[in-house]
Amino acid sequence: MAMIEIIEKKRDGGELSTGQIDWFVQAYTAGEIPDYQAAALIMAIYLRGMNQRETVDLTMAMAKSGDQLDLHDVTPFIVDKHSSGGVGDKTSLIVLPAVAACGVPVGKMSGRCLGSSGGTLDKMESIPGWTPNLTIERFKEQLASIGLVLSGQTACLAPADGKLYALRDVTGTIGNSSLIAASIMSKKLASGADAIVLDVKVGNGAFMSTLDEARDLAKLMVGIGKDAGRQTVALLADMNQPLGFAIGNSLEVKEAIDTLKGHGPADLWTHCLDIAGHMLLLAGKAQTLGEARTLLTEVRDDGRALAKFKAMVTYQGGDARLVDNPEEFRQPQNIEPVYSDLSGYIASIDAGAIGWSCVRLGAGRQIKGESIDHSVGMVIPVKVGDRLALGDLLGTIYAKDQDSGAQANKELRAAITLSDSPISPLPHLYDTLT
Ligand code: URA
Repeated sequence: MAMIEIIEKKRDGGELSTGQIDWFVQAYTAGEIPDYQAAALIMAIYLRGMNQRETVDLTMAMAKSGDQLDLHDVTPFIVDKHSSGGVGDKTSLIVLPAVAACGVPVGKMSGRCLGSSGGTLDKMESIPGWTPNLTIERFKEQLASIGLVLSGQTACLAPADGKLYALRDVTGTIGNSSLIAASIMSKKLASGADAIVLDVKVGNGAFMSTLDEARDLAKLMVGIGKDAGRQTVALLADMNQPLGFAIGNSLEVKEAIDTLKGHGPADLWTHCLDIAGHMLLLAGKAQTLGEARTLLTEVRDDGRALAKFKAMVTYQGGDARLVDNPEEFRQPQNIEPVYSDLSGYIASIDAGAIGWSCVRLGAGRQIKGESIDHSVGMVIPVKVGDRLALGDLLGTIYAKDQDSGAQANKELRAAITLSDSPISPLPHLYDTLT
């Protein structure tokens, strides 16, 4: 099959056959197609779209690009979650250990930073020694021992997504619902989840900026999950401001640890209760969301959730002392507070602009394979609806030098708009699709 014909067909708005999609995914995974041709095809898909049949074919081809885990020899039921990507979204770091601490095994395959949105693997790698590269034997052994695994795409698990994800990150081809659905659901199907909770973000810091787009993406993914025999629920969650306060890899890990210790931003814990709550419902561990929230709060308050997180860090080679002493995470050279030069009510916070500003600080990648600086980012302790007085703290910039810090300072100010009249806080969730 000729790659150039496939690119031209999609470029001209044609429908790719199952054979063409299978061939592309296999050949690209095997290293037989260069990045520039794969990027051309992905851009054509981004611009021309895929219909439902093509999207399902792409998902299945990507899921089958490596091994597909069957974890039933380890545990009878496994639950997973995945976010469609947001700014400051460290939900997985809190939800996974909390759910595992409630006695529900979690084996998750996560991703890296994608555009302006952070990635769980990059965040976790701020802990020296921690690795997401697990063999299937190690994945299963850890799941059996501690009930919690956090892995990445590997040569064995969803390798096609590993390659396409890294390419999309740097080619302006992220926000297309077929590509997002195939990326997320291929990982979920390959990692053997019986039940999946999808955290579909909507807003200025998400890949889907309108509720209609987010709903369509959610329906597409729920449909793929159900057709593959997995119980799938999608929550449509607000992303019109960063989630929690911290944005940037080690800053987010510290905030997650803080939240597991019972502190941390209220919006973050509320969101975690909803996502984790639905995971417990799917696993039959709770009958109502209220019951689930009580269980989750118990495992947070008595330290079991934090202990699970620490066990996962240790099992995956990380320096678990940082969990007890997060102040020992490496700090960048330049840490500066930013104060408001105006007063009023916060009317909007452009989370996407803040995410890109953090990428420019070095928290994300601008070219494929680039190394990132785990220590840089921002902490923004204000939310839409808050009243600000002149001189109040807007945020703190963590930068590697003064120049990049000064640029981020300007970008943070520009991302926040104020109003003279009171503004209502943003809703947390818009809808739940089952
Ligand atoms: N998360 C993923 O794994 N893939 C996407 O495309 C977006 C979010």
